[in-house]
Amino acid sequence: METALVNEIETSVDFLPLNGTDHVEFYVGNAKQSAYYYQMAWGYKLVAYSGPETGVRDRASYVLEQNKVRLVLTTAIDPTSEIAQHHLKHGDGVKFLSIWVDDATKSFEETVKRGAIPYLEPMRIEDEYGYVVVSGIRTYGDTVHKFVERSSYNGPFLPGFKAVDNAMEVTPVGLKYIDHCVGNVELGKMDEWVKFYEDVMGFKLLLTFDDKDISTEYSALMSKVVSNGNGYIKFPINEPAEGKKKSQIEEYLDFYHGAGVQHIAIEVHNILETVAELRRRGIEFLYVPETYYDDVLDRVGEIDEDIEDLKKLNILVDRDESGYLLQIFTKPVEDRPTLFYEIIQRRGAQSFGKGNFKALFESIEREQAIRGNL
Ligand code: FE2
Repeated sequence: METALVNEIETSVDFLPLNGTDHVEFYVGNAKQSAYYYQMAWGYKLVAYSGPETGVRDRASYVLEQNKVRLVLTTAIDPTSEIAQHHLKHGDGVKFLSIWVDDATKSFEETVKRGAIPYLEPMRIEDEYGYVVVSGIRTYGDTVHKFVERSSYNGPFLPGFKAVDNAMEVTPVGLKYIDHCVGNVELGKMDEWVKFYEDVMGFKLLLTFDDKDISTEYSALMSKVVSNGNGYIKFPINEPAEGKKKSQIEEYLDFYHGAGVQHIAIEVHNILETVAELRRRGIEFLYVPETYYDDVLDRVGEIDEDIEDLKKLNILVDRDESGYLLQIFTKPVEDRPTLFYEIIQRRGAQSFGKGNFKALFESIEREQAIRGNL
């Protein structure tokens, strides 16, 4: 994330100044093979590793980067570890939404004082590259926000990780940074978690979508978006809503066995190039029918892209008062219908593609029906 641009007044009232997303850490069944997928299909570069070869006995972790997106893939080596238990219950999924801060001790104290449940007391870790301070608080489900203070550290990732210098050649696909990370929570819990982000982390409610905005013939969901002071961190929170059939959020909760991260949206330089390349590499996307494009320009007005190009790649468009955006969603990237990715290119718009919800959710329901979960 780019630093600064936070004005002084804002900084003085923000008890939890955040610099942006530090990394997203997944607990997975086989980190070595997942790392290969993220390198080959998504073009991430493997930059650091920790595991038995570096003296860590209970786990192996791979750190992958593309511009400002940093993912960590961790797998258990000891079957009794918390990592193995997490994977048994949830399958591959996000454990840490880690946030880059200037002061991990103060971030922990300020949030715990306001009611956060501690996960990790502030801890200073060091090696030959300097030191970091990390701390952590719990959020929905088994998910954790780690605070990472790294201004006195020059190593490849965190102390204990070794740089990987013989990583395979990769071709990036134009990923820039994480735009937002969405959580699915249980029925009736959305407002509780919105309040958590407001009271405990000082976030503001940005947007609300109710079941009238987000319902199809069959199922529905509700969503609220919270954001921190400088807007670098945006967390939409979804909960299922009553519908004729099973909500996609309920399907997620059933298969993840609880609340968790539903999707990660990544901003790209040029969505046409990124999506064309990802398709060539075998990434599967949700499909919207061609009729979506018949009247899309009536809805969104003039755009710079050729509508035929968008149609060919099945990319969606939406507009708000500040501009438009282009977006597309992958199918779940595990065997359980849980986490997926959004590829987004903002051309001014600050919103989340409300105009596409109906078309998208009908597409998700077609997939649910194929899985026998609608
Ligand atoms: Fe999204």
